[in-house]
Amino acid sequence: MISIKDLISGMPFPLYLAPMEGVTDRAFRLACKEQGADVLISEFVSSDALSREVEKSIRKMAFDERERPFGIQIFGHDELSLVKAAHLAEAAGPDFVDINWGCPVKKVVSKGAGSAILQDIPKMAVLTGAVVRELRIPVTVKTRLGWDSTSKPIVEVAERMQDVGVQAIAIHGRTRAQMYGGEADWSLIGEVKRNPRMSIPVIGNGDVNSAGKAILYRERYGVDAVMIGRAAIGNPWIFRQVRDLLAGREPYVPDYADRMGMVLRQLRQTMEEKGERRAVLEMRSQYAGYFKGLDHFKPVRMRLMAATSIAECEEILRLYQAV
Ligand SMILES: Cc1cc2nc3c(=O)[nH]c(=O)nc-3n(C[C@H](O)[C@H](O)[C@H](O)COP(=O)(O)O)c2cc1C
Repeated sequence: MISIKDLISGMPFPLYLAPMEGVTDRAFRLACKEQGADVLISEFVSSDALSREVEKSIRKMAFDERERPFGIQIFGHDELSLVKAAHLAEAAGPDFVDINWGCPVKKVVSKGAGSAILQDIPKMAVLTGAVVRELRIPVTVKTRLGWDSTSKPIVEVAERMQDVGVQAIAIHGRTRAQMYGGEADWSLIGEVKRNPRMSIPVIGNGDVNSAGKAILYRERYGVDAVMIGRAAIGNPWIFRQVRDLLAGREPYVPDYADRMGMVLRQLRQTMEEKGERRAVLEMRSQYAGYFKGLDHFKPVRMRLMAATSIAECEEILRLYQAV
């Protein structure tokens, strides 16, 4: 089993696609992989639901061999179900299991999972350590700077995670209280990386919305990898744009045919997995990203939002292409 450190150090500029519930399903992840994302992670999977073997949660762990290196992310608050879920995740065959200690959503936090754990670091260490001990594959963690502006213990958290055997830590440069507001603060991510006690890879995350920013932030904060989330929604080409810029090329700009082709492919792939109705519904949240900046696209988008079949979406998209 290859360690995360070896995995990352073999990549010239490691780029992660951030896990995003409701977005980073297999079809979307494959699109990003094709465009240059190195490491992919599933949407988060509830350890409570998984340990009860709820069908939907089991399905969320499915991945394609082309997605490797691939991680399955679990979240939870209770040792028994977290460990059981971690075993089930491991059995699905990923390269690593990631524990979500960063989700700020009330439904998750109110149970003590996600970023709520940042209020109880000893418990975070116990639960994480238990998962690490139980698994044969690497365990990584994704978290935030801290709970709120008065508590940003990420430097200590990162050390504790390393001490219990976590192989890499992804840090979103916000506190729980910030949710997704304000600006991500990477200075503390840089501090974690500069900590001489740290030896595991540190993955920086938050507000990387252009190829230039990915390169700048990696240099400025010294992180081992950069993780991109929202900026990839409707723009899986962002990974390719980073590669272009690094190679001294003009970053690739997809034309309309590219965008339409990507949307249709994603729709069809999602349909294979989840059926046409879900594919059409779920794609609605991505049109704004895919067709950003196009002239007179709003009425087209409105029609796409009301479409109920892939054939209808295709017809609408081709009509715009023709005018
Ligand atoms: C719609 C959405 C869903 C998300 N779901 C997850 C998730 O399942 N697991 C997780 O660790 N983070 C999740 N996040 C947080 C992202 O992984 C990432 O940390 C955050 O968006 C900041 O990165 P960005 O500025 O590049 O988007 C989600 C974010 C969004 C916008």
